[in-house]
Amino acid sequence: MTDSPDDLCGLAARLAVAAGDLVREGRKHGLTSVSTKSTDTDIVTEFDRASERLIVDGLRAERPNDALVGEEGTDAVGVSGIRWLIDPIDGTTNFQYDLPGYAVSIAALADERPLAGAVYIPSSMELFTAVADGGARLNGTPIHCSTLTSVQHALVATGFSYHIERRRRQAARIAALIPRVRDIRRFGAAAPDLCYVAAGRVDVYFEEWLGPWDWAAGELIAREAGCRTGRFDGGPAASEQVLAASPALFEQMIELLADTEPGTDPGIM
Ligand code: IPD
Ligand code: CA
Ligand code: CA
Repeated sequence: MTDSPDDLCGLAARLAVAAGDLVREGRKHGLTSVSTKSTDTDIVTEFDRASERLIVDGLRAERPNDALVGEEGTDAVGVSGIRWLIDPIDGTTNFQYDLPGYAVSIAALADERPLAGAVYIPSSMELFTAVADGGARLNGTPIHCSTLTSVQHALVATGFSYHIERRRRQAARIAALIPRVRDIRRFGAAAPDLCYVAAGRVDVYFEEWLGPWDWAAGELIAREAGCRTGRFDGGPAASEQVLAASPALFEQMIELLADTEPGTDPGIM
């Protein structure tokens, strides 16, 4: 296969669906192995590992010269210039509790620039895809972000870290934000959150302290669906801060995030 974004996207999509179907079907028989990682609420199951194995084996078979990074430990250097970022189950807490909001997320990057991304939500069999400069799709149909123009009416998705001190700061910001937007949603998985902004199911998503695999595919999908994305100061999106919103809401959200920054808002501290 070539390095074209379309080919990379096709492969990401095939593997995301295969891995997602595997974990959805496997989950029906229960979980036998649940352990913790960075904190005692950050969990990993046998299905996170099985999903990563399936994806890594598939990538190695078709793209042996690419670099691979997976949340559950894969870290392989490559020589082709293409690097894959894999979240084998994004939303493991939902998965553990048998809630539907989890996904498989796969992105291909060249020189840190995302070329292709796929996010598959097994419970609803929804496959979100995007290629750089080629638009975003849901099950093959083009999608677009919301056209809302006032942040006070925005439905805002966000997520919280597994680390207690970070959660404290996030809670302080949310307390200040809730009276200033339509409402908040915490679905429990960053990649679907970004896809929901892409599809106009929410108007805004923001989160701090992500892993690179959490947002790589979803950010491309959101951008290709017409969103602006970036850090909370408007610079390029990074794992420390990801904001995605329709162009009309992006600047308003930057102001709102500055206003609700814990420690600077007299209403919070
Ligand atoms: C988590 C989810 C969650 C987000 C966390 C992520 P995981 O990923 O995306 O929504 O708030 O920051 O770590 O651990 O379920 O793959
Ligand atoms: Ca994740
Ligand atoms: Ca994960």
